[in-house]
Amino acid sequence: MSHAPVVPVLTIDGPSGSGKGTISALVAERLGWRLLDSGALYRAVGYAAGAAGLDLSDVEAMTRCAQGTRIQFRAAGDGGATRVVVNGHDATDELRTETAGAAASAIASMPPVREALVALQLGFRKAPGLVADGRDMGTVIFPDAAYKVFLTASAAERAKRRYKQLKEKGLSVTLAGLQREIEARDSRDASRAVAPLKPAEDAVLVDTTGMGIDEVVAKVLAVVRS
Ligand code: C5P
Repeated sequence: MSHAPVVPVLTIDGPSGSGKGTISALVAERLGWRLLDSGALYRAVGYAAGAAGLDLSDVEAMTRCAQGTRIQFRAAGDGGATRVVVNGHDATDELRTETAGAAASAIASMPPVREALVALQLGFRKAPGLVADGRDMGTVIFPDAAYKVFLTASAAERAKRRYKQLKEKGLSVTLAGLQREIEARDSRDASRAVAPLKPAEDAVLVDTTGMGIDEVVAKVLAVVRS
């Protein structure tokens, strides 16, 4: 009897602004593994719902939307960040806004919406390996992952990082406003009944407050290589 080899998975969970996105992309590149940005899936569904004029608090409508939204990740031709195409429209820039994050967080608290996105996420597990970035990668979607990391950073530091990112994009935001939004989203994500934001019991905790990107990447790679 032959068994298909198990594709290794590294889960990187944590709150928004903990550096997950940047770190996951760099680590995936270094390992030559695929990348799943699960937050982009929730953002894409929230965006598609908004574009269709649907009521974001209507669980049935959001579930149908999650089941019916076509989400594609495309490598940017210029070697830049991956583009996210939602129902045929390149929504990469819209998906990064705080409005999209808040919409994602609202629909992500609905169990049938989460359920509708499970198969899609499992499909990313392909050789030679997968780096899965999100909130429940190590606890719910890939509980059998060989490597699990939970990234954190203080809310003040995360707000500062987000502020810098959004300012560079020319968006008008305030640091205090961002910190309030981050704290509100954290508490909603951590207190929801389904798949709350919490470290898997077997995850390695990495507090990135005051750490540089290279240092964090090295720490995460060490988890895989240990
Ligand atoms: O990671 P990102 O900020 O893009 O995620 C947006 C929102 O999507 C989060 O605030 C969270 O509510 C939700 N999310 C989730 N589970 C994941 C990834 C994201 O609930 N695995």
